[in-house]
Amino acid sequence: MDKIVIDGGAPLRGSVDVSGAKNAALPTLAAALLAEGDHVVRNVPNLADVRTMGRLLGSMECAFERDPAGHVARIRVPAAITPEAPYELVKTMRASVVVLGPLAARWGKARVSLPGGCAIGARPIDQHLKGLAALGAKITLEHGYVDVEVPGGRLKGTVFTFDGQTVTGTENIMMAATLAEGRTVLENCAREPEVVDLANALNRMGARIEGAGTAELRIDGVESLRPLDHAVIPDRIEAGTFLVAGALPGNDVTVMGCVPGHLEALIEKLRTVGADVKEVAGGVRVVGDGRPRPTDIRTQPHPGFPTDMQAQMMVLLCLAEGSSRLTETVFENRYMHVQELQRLGADITVDGKTAVVRGVPALSGAPVMASDLRASAALVLAGLAAKGTTEVQRVYHLDRGYERIEAKLAPLGARITRVKA
Ligand code: EPZ
Repeated sequence: MDKIVIDGGAPLRGSVDVSGAKNAALPTLAAALLAEGDHVVRNVPNLADVRTMGRLLGSMECAFERDPAGHVARIRVPAAITPEAPYELVKTMRASVVVLGPLAARWGKARVSLPGGCAIGARPIDQHLKGLAALGAKITLEHGYVDVEVPGGRLKGTVFTFDGQTVTGTENIMMAATLAEGRTVLENCAREPEVVDLANALNRMGARIEGAGTAELRIDGVESLRPLDHAVIPDRIEAGTFLVAGALPGNDVTVMGCVPGHLEALIEKLRTVGADVKEVAGGVRVVGDGRPRPTDIRTQPHPGFPTDMQAQMMVLLCLAEGSSRLTETVFENRYMHVQELQRLGADITVDGKTAVVRGVPALSGAPVMASDLRASAALVLAGLAAKGTTEVQRVYHLDRGYERIEAKLAPLGARITRVKA
């Protein structure tokens, strides 16, 4: 198992490119199940999760291949598939659940393993199942699997309101409704850029979706869809992680290829803490001038402050001149990184949803353990800022969502290497 070793304190200078978005690529790859034929998805990040989605599609008799760099995926969906997502694959990536909607809509049946527990929260899929049931599907849960049967083989348009905003829930039901009979209106939808990107991809396939990016989606079902050819959006969370790296004291980083409009809540907070953030041609430049100011942050669904940036932003606030309050409202257990940051000398107390971060002048390097994807990114950022050596273990978490992060940071001057543990 690899670990990342960082000799901290080196100033970061220069520009770094952003990869395609993991959380746009995964549902877009699953959308291929909605139409027989040859599909192409471009700007796909070369990540463990993308490979898992490829294996999942393969287990359904779809052909899946990527170009040598791993950024262009080609999927051949045959006339008949096995509409099943096995536990062995779903347990490694809960996002596998996004095959549920396409399978139910296109094949009238699906058998998908329940995702099970997750480090950051319970993460039930009740809204996904309620939405499918509202479209007329019969759902049974047995032996850890969701079994879906669509009477008559075709879903029926309906009006459905999500109890709470859910990103993959919205994506699943939006995909299912594209082939339903009649119009579907979905209320209280997630508005994340990845949802909008998926809607654009589906409309390229011949779907009729309106309202993406707002709380209401209107979908007029069609008889069939054509194969996809779509390039996914840049990864705003990878971009955000590099922007926070640039805002650390003494750094000057330009993040190329990101969409500033996808990062407004984060950029607003970086400016509040005193970082100099400027839009430049093709990207965003951030300069961390001295110790940041403290601020309060509340995570929320988009366009609010993204929960996937909470841990990284906490690192910056660990070095602030004063105390900050972070309130995590999206997931109930997303402070696993706190104990590890305390090992680096951070001063943080957690009380339920709220973490109080009292800034310290400096962090000191130590061995730390990653617990989940974004926590591991935060530990890498902390290691870059800390004096001395930090070893981040269990980096398989990191590889799920960051493409060769050490190879992207080293050219900025980071003293970072990956070693086989
Ligand atoms: C997506 O997960 C992202 N994953 C997550 O990114 C991200 O943290 C999350 O959205 C929130 O932005 C992908 O897109 C693959 P939700 P998702 O359904 O869709 C509750 C990363 O780091 N809920 O929007 O699973 C749920 O428990 C990952 O890249 C229900 O109660 O998140 C949570 O508290 C981590 N019932 C809240 O809603 C449901 O049926 C939001 O979850 C569905 C969700």
